[in-house]
Amino acid sequence: MCGIIGYLGYRKAYHILINGLKKLEYRGYDSSGIALFHNNEYNLCKTIGKVSDLEKTIFSKKMNLKGSIGLGHTRWATHGLPNNVNAHPHVSNSNELIMIHNGIIENHHAIKIFLLKNGFFFKSETDTEVLVNLIEYLKIENKSSLEEAVRISLNEVIGTYSIAIIEKSNPETVILAKLGSPISIGIGYNEKEFFIASDPISFLNYTKNVLYLQDGEMVILKKNKKLDLRKIVNNLKISPIIKKLKINLKEIEKGKYKYFMLKEIYEQPKIILDTLKSRLFISNEIIYINGVDSNKEIFTKTKSITIIACGTSWHASLIGEYLIEKLDHIPVEVEYASEFIYKDPIINPKDIIIVISQSGETADTLSALKLAKKKGAFVFGICNVVGSSIARYVDAGVYTHAGPEIGVASTKSFTAQIIILILLAIKLGKYRSTVNKSFSQFLYKELDSISEKINRTLELNTTLQKVSNLYYNYNNFLYLGRGIHFPVALEGALKLKEISYIHAEGYPAAEMKHGPIALIDEKMPVVVLATKNDFYEKIMGNIQEIKARKGIVIAIANQNDCQIDMIADHVINIPNICDIFSPLLTVIPLQLLAYQIAFLRKKNIDQPRNLAKSVTVE
Ligand code: M6R
Repeated sequence: MCGIIGYLGYRKAYHILINGLKKLEYRGYDSSGIALFHNNEYNLCKTIGKVSDLEKTIFSKKMNLKGSIGLGHTRWATHGLPNNVNAHPHVSNSNELIMIHNGIIENHHAIKIFLLKNGFFFKSETDTEVLVNLIEYLKIENKSSLEEAVRISLNEVIGTYSIAIIEKSNPETVILAKLGSPISIGIGYNEKEFFIASDPISFLNYTKNVLYLQDGEMVILKKNKKLDLRKIVNNLKISPIIKKLKINLKEIEKGKYKYFMLKEIYEQPKIILDTLKSRLFISNEIIYINGVDSNKEIFTKTKSITIIACGTSWHASLIGEYLIEKLDHIPVEVEYASEFIYKDPIINPKDIIIVISQSGETADTLSALKLAKKKGAFVFGICNVVGSSIARYVDAGVYTHAGPEIGVASTKSFTAQIIILILLAIKLGKYRSTVNKSFSQFLYKELDSISEKINRTLELNTTLQKVSNLYYNYNNFLYLGRGIHFPVALEGALKLKEISYIHAEGYPAAEMKHGPIALIDEKMPVVVLATKNDFYEKIMGNIQEIKARKGIVIAIANQNDCQIDMIADHVINIPNICDIFSPLLTVIPLQLLAYQIAFLRKKNIDQPRNLAKSVTVE
């Protein structure tokens, strides 16, 4: 949460900061601010709302835009309401230090009391203002440099942070530090300029040479000088490892689409092809997953697997549970990362823990992974963002390579995670001889057809627009599914909640009669996943129960299913596919339904209220 941006160089900083903030808005968008440094003075502007509101305020206040050094921030509130005062950058009592921060200083209260006793005052409710004043206090008290004061302060705080701080009287030095929250530095032309950002996509136009700061590191950036990387704990110098970014600019633009979410939904057929192309070699019957191949023994011998994730990735994990139990006969537990950390989990050395995360930065998942590693487990990661914290901490892993996902509601990362889980389950089935040759050949053929079938499913968008037109003003929706379709029902409900703010619940279809059935009346649309499988007749029974109580049934069914046409109010006919792969198709109409409803309700689809793309606080 929160996006940090900064620039130190020879170009006009203003446009770099504003355009960078727009690319970081997915990380938080309740308030924002920038500070520009010029002639040992700074100009600051902060406002509630989006970066576009910040731009308007800057122009209405006729803010001086001079300066080739600056900091900017887009916020997702943790401590204190979203308002102008709590927005970043924060300034120390003497007006000398200006700082932006992403993360949480857990012992901010104790530090604040200490500082109050020492004559400090606070304008905001934020933990960031506490930290910048602690740095100021130590700088004055110890008569030390800013660098030294930052180091000593950070050794005193408990929590997570990525910070960037500048001293007004010496603005050509910027100090950054990291623990838990991401921050990267782009090395610009001739190594004479530095770009600072929570996510390098915001400076991709200028440079692809990136240093990802690691936990416990700080860096001192000086204009026209080489960067100076050090350990926070003991000031030891470290050699920086500069990486070359492989992202293409087109991947982070909306193109012809009104919202990133729609673009990302439509990218799914291509992503599936790309993922399979580099991993599945049908003619040789080989599935290539490096992190699994090099740990074959662990995967072959394991007696159980635990999968840990949050949100949509947790739904993909439930599908993974179903796949691995079915194809490999290995018992699987799926845990919410946030619950796992606090339940004193039983983990034995060499147990397999799989963590799944699109961003690779989700704080709860990261904490769960660290705990699992501490207890000796073998941790395998499935991440989308290359070089992310989770990807770096795991023992082995695989990237989904779905490309940058900008819409806050996850779509393409979900299908990419499922594809990886399918490949993993088939691979383990072959290791453990639970998947024989003819079955694997059948599965490969089915996999080979998925991309084209998703393309055909996307053609249903017009039908879904019509259905959305009828129900977009309703207040509640229910989503039902059985077996592997239950997690898809959860995912459909989550998508609708997130972007349209309609109350929606996902339920196992058979559980409906144990409670939710009480909610059903003529004002309750029920989305039922009713493709042909072993539970088909049971699901038909559930649909009858809904209709008997005047509920509205929107069924996701297979082509040429005449039986369901007779009882459901609306039938969305998707192509046929084997049941264990069908979530890849059934989820598509649910993503489109949520999108169309949110569109009709005129919601900001890519940046729904209260949410942020990566949840980097616990
Ligand atoms: O980046 P992660 O996959 O770890 O994120 C987990 C959840 O925060 C995420 O899936 C969230 O639920 C999405 N907004 C769902 O659309």
